[in-house]
Amino acid sequence: TGGTRELLLSRIRDVADYPKPGVLFKDITPLLADPSAFTALTDELAALCATHGATKIVGLEARGFILAAPVAVRAGLGFVPVRKAGKLPGATLRQAYELEYGTAEIEVHAEDLDAGDRVMVIDDVLATGGTAEASLELVRRAGAEVAGVAVLMELGFLAGRARLEPALRGAPLEALITI
Ligand code: PRP
Ligand code: MG
Repeated sequence: TGGTRELLLSRIRDVADYPKPGVLFKDITPLLADPSAFTALTDELAALCATHGATKIVGLEARGFILAAPVAVRAGLGFVPVRKAGKLPGATLRQAYELEYGTAEIEVHAEDLDAGDRVMVIDDVLATGGTAEASLELVRRAGAEVAGVAVLMELGFLAGRARLEPALRGAPLEALITI
């Protein structure tokens, strides 16, 4: 709702020149520290999972974990972590993606997702879309279906939505706030 959006927006702090000059960082720690706001966020995301028929929640390390884990509990669905490469002990699928400088890799336990799953991917921010795009590759390579991607914030000026579009294959990208 409009009221929820205003509440969430009011609990996101702008930090100028972090992590480097010229960047306006969106800090969600005030939102996390406010139980009303964090609960409202969790409820909104859990409702989207129901709307889109998700049967499993994928959270993206690290900030995505903070949002996605309570959503999974709230929605009564299993939580699957997508981690930065090298952190998961079992058999994994690994996907590389481009950063501003260089590349990074993320992984998921292959056995955590399969053909019966409809996955909602949850993260805090959609910026260039690279992280979300790589996570959708992992979900599909694991054999699962994509229910959608849900983020707290979309940074519209970085055009992540356009980049993510082909990988969504018609699945929804839900952003509670677009900046
Ligand atoms: C940040 C943010 C998103 C991602 C968005 O994560 O939490 O996951 O960048 O950027 P993109 O759309 O351009 O891929 P980051 O990897 O910086 O760090 P984190 O471990 O703190 O989540
Ligand atoms: Mg992140």
